[in-house]
Amino acid sequence: MKKLTSIIAAMVLTVAPAAAKKGDPKPLPADPTPRIIEIETANTAMILTVDKDGSLMFDYYGKKIDDPAPFLQKNSYRRVDFCTDPAAYITQGGREQRQASLAVTHCDGDLNTQLRYVSHEVEKAGNRTVTTIQLSDAVKPFDVKLVYEACTGQDVIVVHSEITNRENGDVRLRNYFSANISAQADRYYLTQFGGAWAREMGMQESELTRGIKTISSQKQVRAVQLENPSFMLSLDHPLDENSGNVIAGALAWTGNFDLSFEVDDFDILIMRAGINPYSAEYTLRTGETMVTPDVILTFSDSGAGEASRNLHDWARECGGVYDAEEVCPTLLNSWEGAYFDFDTELLKHMIDDTADMGLEMFVLDDGWFGNEFPRNNTKQGLGDWQVNRAKLPGGIDEIASYAVSKGLKFGIWIEPEMVSPRSELARKHPDWVVGYNTGRELTTTRNQWLLDLSNPDVQDFVFEVFDNTMKMSPHISYIKWDANRHVENAGSAHLDRETQSMFWVKYTQGLYNVYKRIREAYPDVIIQACASGGGRVEYGALKYNDEAWTSDNTDARSRIFIQYGTSHIYPSVVMGSHVSAVPNHQTEGITPLKFRFDVAMSGRLGMELQPKNLTDDEKAFARKAIATYKQLRPTIMYGDLYRLHSPYEKGNYASLMYVEKDKSKAVLFAYCFEYRGRDTVCRLKLTGLDPGRKYRLTEVNVEKKPIFWGEGMTFSGEFLTNEGVNLPLTKRYSSAVFVLEAVE
Ligand code: GLA
Repeated sequence: MKKLTSIIAAMVLTVAPAAAKKGDPKPLPADPTPRIIEIETANTAMILTVDKDGSLMFDYYGKKIDDPAPFLQKNSYRRVDFCTDPAAYITQGGREQRQASLAVTHCDGDLNTQLRYVSHEVEKAGNRTVTTIQLSDAVKPFDVKLVYEACTGQDVIVVHSEITNRENGDVRLRNYFSANISAQADRYYLTQFGGAWAREMGMQESELTRGIKTISSQKQVRAVQLENPSFMLSLDHPLDENSGNVIAGALAWTGNFDLSFEVDDFDILIMRAGINPYSAEYTLRTGETMVTPDVILTFSDSGAGEASRNLHDWARECGGVYDAEEVCPTLLNSWEGAYFDFDTELLKHMIDDTADMGLEMFVLDDGWFGNEFPRNNTKQGLGDWQVNRAKLPGGIDEIASYAVSKGLKFGIWIEPEMVSPRSELARKHPDWVVGYNTGRELTTTRNQWLLDLSNPDVQDFVFEVFDNTMKMSPHISYIKWDANRHVENAGSAHLDRETQSMFWVKYTQGLYNVYKRIREAYPDVIIQACASGGGRVEYGALKYNDEAWTSDNTDARSRIFIQYGTSHIYPSVVMGSHVSAVPNHQTEGITPLKFRFDVAMSGRLGMELQPKNLTDDEKAFARKAIATYKQLRPTIMYGDLYRLHSPYEKGNYASLMYVEKDKSKAVLFAYCFEYRGRDTVCRLKLTGLDPGRKYRLTEVNVEKKPIFWGEGMTFSGEFLTNEGVNLPLTKRYSSAVFVLEAVE
């Protein structure tokens, strides 16, 4: 009995909070003076208030309000003994019962945290205003900074949190989200973007009801292929292109993510975004800070179109996408044209054709490496990044130099995070493989394993793969970085027993370490983020990558949907978009070459086929279309996007246009993807033009004769906006592209 009593006493001792000793760190002193903190952009504002007990509350996100003072009055009476508006950063503890952005186990086992306002500072740098709010727990030396970066001209607010442990021992982070915001409306309509391999970024809208809707991934690598970490939330009415209050957002994190939308018992909606905490408890040692990823937010009172344009401007102008101002070269990628089956001669012919059609770069895809385990199929060779001497005896430099001699740039494919079981690398470093330490079967996907980027040695290796590849020739301008599997049986031989659950976060941090080193060493190389197609179309990767491969599905019909969805969150400047062969290798669909060009030209134009299989007429068409694209490229890459007709709406057609910022030039794309009946037309009211100016309308990529009666005519912006153009695009896979140039 005595024994049992002493065991119970010992258990109690371990969970009871340790009494504070003199000199122990303390919470930062709270300042409970009620105040308003307003985070403003040109047209929007986010309003937070400090409550009388020092809590920081989230009050408002929407159109800018000139006099926000009443929020303080509202604040002073609203929380008598219950909670309505949520905290600006919801924690487990206190009166909050909603999904917590922060849930931790403090060093003494206490599960609760109650954050209080300490201070805030505002820093202005050009177009940006950064508001940093310091919070601290009411009883523990445990702090959170909320950082709100307002990009004024773009109407975008980027939010993240920084969580610091000053306690006398480890704190275990169970939830460590970046941010939460709230909205109040009668109805909430959520548009999410997702699908599967080869049908990424499909759009789905649902009305949110009581409870929690989550968009998330637990795949870690190619994490965003099935569900993208982005959303559009339309208040009161379903999402409309040109009207209505819309909050749109995206998380910048190349790993497991979680975006949750909770409609609570007050019918308030709380959106929470951040790293997916599933199985990912993170130990924060004394003195350590966890910096969470950015959540990029915008508000529009004019529908989805404006929300997208805000995000695009932010992506291009505020560093959301790496080097977005650099004009992208048109290219021919060898994958669908040659797959693994090439030699020097075949590549040189492809290069000749690439140059002949007026493209600007040749990209050598998979299959160029491995000697003991030659990469002649997907079964082997990943990890052995030495040129295959049988296929390319003159090395990569011979091919790259040849491309350069033809006036082209040269690019090459790597997949440095992966290893084939049949490879020299797997034999040398089995402990680098994710899951090796678990003693379980190492499952393969596409015959490959994943390298453990939480291990600094693996980070060095991945950097060296990139570095050594670049050193194979001074003529490499472009790297396609692929990642063709996800995590199964998570585990790291590098991490110890206690920190295994940190694997997920450490992997992504490891990837970012490598990206940073690469960007320091190679600031100018163009990098494409590819992960079995669109598995890395997200702003965490895009910060370091110039472009993304949105899908392995190159069928132009499928691409209309994929690119339409993608355009809601990501700008055309990241959207690699290639003309491929027919029948299409994924769908077996057959579409005319013109249709394929018309679709691909609305993004970063490339080709991905064997040019020698094109007829002379097809080559001539391609040559002309490529030359036209180069002229229109600045408008397509840097103009404002106006979506005119959704492929999801009635009619089986889609249309969009890009308008230069000064409204002097626009490019209009229209596609019909099903037979529409002989007598129908596509009615397109153009948006984004200056109604007071006149525009000359010219069709490009014309095959036989122009399709519009107004070809070459001049129209007022007012006419084009109100009456628009009626295009006889009735046949399946008929399409048209027009240029509109202001003449006065
Ligand atoms: C992935 C990519 C393709 C191609 C192949 C090469 O599937 O998405 O574009 O690079 O790998 O193996």
